[in-house]
Amino acid sequence: MSTYDITIIGSGPGGYVAAIRCAQLGMKTAIIEKYDTLGGTCLNVGCIPSKALLDSSEHFHNAAHNFEEHGVDLNGVKANMKQMIKRKNEVVAQTCNGVKFLMDKNKVEVHYGLGSFVDKNTVKVTAKDGKETLLSTKNILIATGSKPNFFPGMEPDKKRILTSTEMLNLEEIPGKLLVIGAGVIGLELGSVFGRLGTQVEVVEFAKAIIPTMDSTLSKELTRVLKKDGFKFHLEHRVQGVKNTGKGVKLTALNKKGEEVTLEADYCLVAVGRKAYTEGLGLENIGLEVNNRGQVDVNEHLQTSVPNVYAIGDVIKGAMLAHKAEDEGVYIAELLAGQKPHINYNLIPGVVYTWPEVAAVGKTEEELRSAGVEIKIGQFPIKALGRARASGDIQGVVKIIADAATDEVLGVHMIAPRAADLIMEAVTAMEFRASAEDMARICHPHPTYSEALKEAALAATDDRAMHV
Ligand code: FAD
Ligand code: NAI
Repeated sequence: MSTYDITIIGSGPGGYVAAIRCAQLGMKTAIIEKYDTLGGTCLNVGCIPSKALLDSSEHFHNAAHNFEEHGVDLNGVKANMKQMIKRKNEVVAQTCNGVKFLMDKNKVEVHYGLGSFVDKNTVKVTAKDGKETLLSTKNILIATGSKPNFFPGMEPDKKRILTSTEMLNLEEIPGKLLVIGAGVIGLELGSVFGRLGTQVEVVEFAKAIIPTMDSTLSKELTRVLKKDGFKFHLEHRVQGVKNTGKGVKLTALNKKGEEVTLEADYCLVAVGRKAYTEGLGLENIGLEVNNRGQVDVNEHLQTSVPNVYAIGDVIKGAMLAHKAEDEGVYIAELLAGQKPHINYNLIPGVVYTWPEVAAVGKTEEELRSAGVEIKIGQFPIKALGRARASGDIQGVVKIIADAATDEVLGVHMIAPRAADLIMEAVTAMEFRASAEDMARICHPHPTYSEALKEAALAATDDRAMHV
């Protein structure tokens, strides 16, 4: 048995990025993946397939509803769901093959099979055909990710009651879809089908949609999605959902405690994800999961077994691909003797609805409850020349700055291409810019980015110019 410097269990964005950086830094690296393709949740059943379907459905929606206004007449536009799924599968396959190429290029040894701990320096790989291989290793990185969560009464049967994984492969356009959970998955996949003509009804336990984001975004997105035909049942506690053979029947209690019954063709359960450690044999090295099923780590992402580390969805924190990636790089650089750092306050969050929602830093609610004196600048997207030219006029940019120092503390936006626009705010905040710094940077005209400049002007001294 040759000894690896590091063995990584799980090939999602956390694991495969860690593998590349470890190899770049000269470590003999192995990666283990239990499925036949690399890339984890993100590439196979998460970020990439959902964005492929979001883009396809947005093209259809624009062709069916918006092209005419631009002087493009199309007759009889139809959505071809089978082709959308086929294209999505091709995008996924290309992306996953790309990861295999990167592993080979960086001389990372890939082992397919379930990885489990034998002891703190030995990992067993059990292949699909039952063949077992033992890997001897100095360090081990747990990057086993997460799986969809659900609560009693809403167990997905994967036929009518679906998780995101099955929903991403649905080859029909349902007449009506119920979504449990108005979080990121519910609103993104709800948008895919809503744009194709499905009546989408969302049942949410909290008072607002995307409840952990700034309330300005939640209000604006509610308005936008209602206009697109979404129906929301907020403050509803789901009691159960059943497959009736031809569809689903959901019962919930509203805030008055009255029972509400909803019926549809399918139900998407999107109430969060849970850390995944099944079959890992943590007990063989004396590790236990915490009460949320996560692997506990210290500030260096190290478990209580010193040569075993964990990153990504399987530990605390935001369940985001870029967070997992940054943690993967952190581990490689830490093991190489460097002093890496992750600024967890500046991990941006995006919801890929249209317009997109994006945020970084603290929300107004968080800052007010912490007693921070703040000032806020807002700018509506519809006041931009670029927005009027394109016809994409919905949304708002909100910049929150410290009242005394003018330092930008949070940027929240709903805007066309907000997923890309947010990076200006992340960069500015990484360098601890003030609102005035952002306002004085020259922004190209006409662009959506001018909304950031104007919101920064509004925050600086209430001196936005174009509103
Ligand atoms: P994962 O990607 O879950 O990878 C873990 C891997 O480990 C899996 O391949 C699994 O098979 C493997 N594994 C588990 N146990 C073992 C074992 N014992 N042996 C061998 N292999 C094992 N995030 C974003 O940032 N942007 C998005 O747009 C976005 N969209 C999403 C859309 C959907 C529908 C979903 C479900 C998620 C989305 N996410 C998005 C979240 C993102 O996918 C996750 O945060 C990210 O994949 C976590 O990376 P990870 O490396 O920690 O784990
Ligand atoms: P989520 O945490 O975003 O949203 C879950 C929603 O379900 C919340 O609004 C919650 O209040 C609600 N809920 C919980 N229990 C409920 C109940 N019993 N009845 C009704 N509503 C209930 O989780 P989601 O959407 O499943 O996504 C999982 C993770 O995947 C997220 O943490 C996110 O980080 C990641 N993801 C990221 C994406 C992105 O970055 N664009 C896209 C999709 C997923």
